[in-house]
Amino acid sequence: MPLVNTREMFKKAYEGGYAIGAFNVNNMEIVQGITEACKELNSPVILQVSSGARKYANHTYLVKLVEAAIEVTGLPIALHLDHGDSFELCKSCIDGGFSSVMIDGSHLPYEENIALAKKVADYAHQFDVTVEAELGRLAGIEDDVNVSAADASYTDPAQVQDFVERTGVDSLAIAIGTSHGAYKFKPGQKPQLRFDILAEVEKRLPGFPIVLHGASSVIPEFVDMINTYGGKMPDAIGIPEDMLREAAKMAVCKINVDSDLRLAMTATLRKYLAEHPSHFDPRQYLSPARAAIKDMVAHKITTVLGSAGKV
Ligand code: G3H
Ligand code: 13P
Ligand code: ZN
Repeated sequence: MPLVNTREMFKKAYEGGYAIGAFNVNNMEIVQGITEACKELNSPVILQVSSGARKYANHTYLVKLVEAAIEVTGLPIALHLDHGDSFELCKSCIDGGFSSVMIDGSHLPYEENIALAKKVADYAHQFDVTVEAELGRLAGIEDDVNVSAADASYTDPAQVQDFVERTGVDSLAIAIGTSHGAYKFKPGQKPQLRFDILAEVEKRLPGFPIVLHGASSVIPEFVDMINTYGGKMPDAIGIPEDMLREAAKMAVCKINVDSDLRLAMTATLRKYLAEHPSHFDPRQYLSPARAAIKDMVAHKITTVLGSAGKV
């Protein structure tokens, strides 16, 4: 089974009322933890690489790790560029074997976002690579860029049809109140998503796959564990899982999760090292960290995505 693009995955997910998990990968243990869970639950999956991940781990290492995961699991896996910020970066990933890319022009004026997304889509489609674009702007931190709540903006449903028609992109990330990182709402604030915007987008783009970024739930157990074992995280609030499940039953076909994996991995490492102060073999502490990734992904598949058994 080679790498797959997202077209067939999203078609089945849209029709079946579930979503595909898109998990960020940075090293071997993360790739293994995610894909072991998907294998056990027979779930399709998107492994996504940010430009920061590419700088950290090297493009070729990441491609080879994902190819190894496909060989070992036999699963349909899409390898996706997360938050591509230029045509050149998208081209480099397309030329270098990715099956899907995101061009994130959400910070640009509308017409510039359209021109950039169309340029990437025209190039990508020659190689059957699928393209995600973004309209509206999420708050939070990605690749060390911090978008303040004041600079964030919800997607305007009146623009989506024009945007998709003129760009030819295959999926669209929208801003309905999710945000990147662990601090999505202020302490005491009640998490809310604009389901009215999602419903309106769905009405204007029937059958078209929608993407939610910033969809970690920031499970308190792991924040508590980090703080129990020497960490100092302030109160963190994520997106309630029942809201994400609702979105997955609607037009949302791709749900992005990175922070929840980071929290599970870090909490487990801290606990292990605190409880085994004399251990210094990376295999000893990375084994439970990898298992924590696997458990978190299995939890997402069964509780949020509904993608178990959909291969
Ligand atoms: O949305 C961003 C993802 O969490 C990736 O984060 O850019 O720090 O790798 P990164
Ligand atoms: P979280 O920070 O909520 O995990 O979002 C990840 C994401 O959107 C990656 O593109
Ligand atoms: Zn994102």
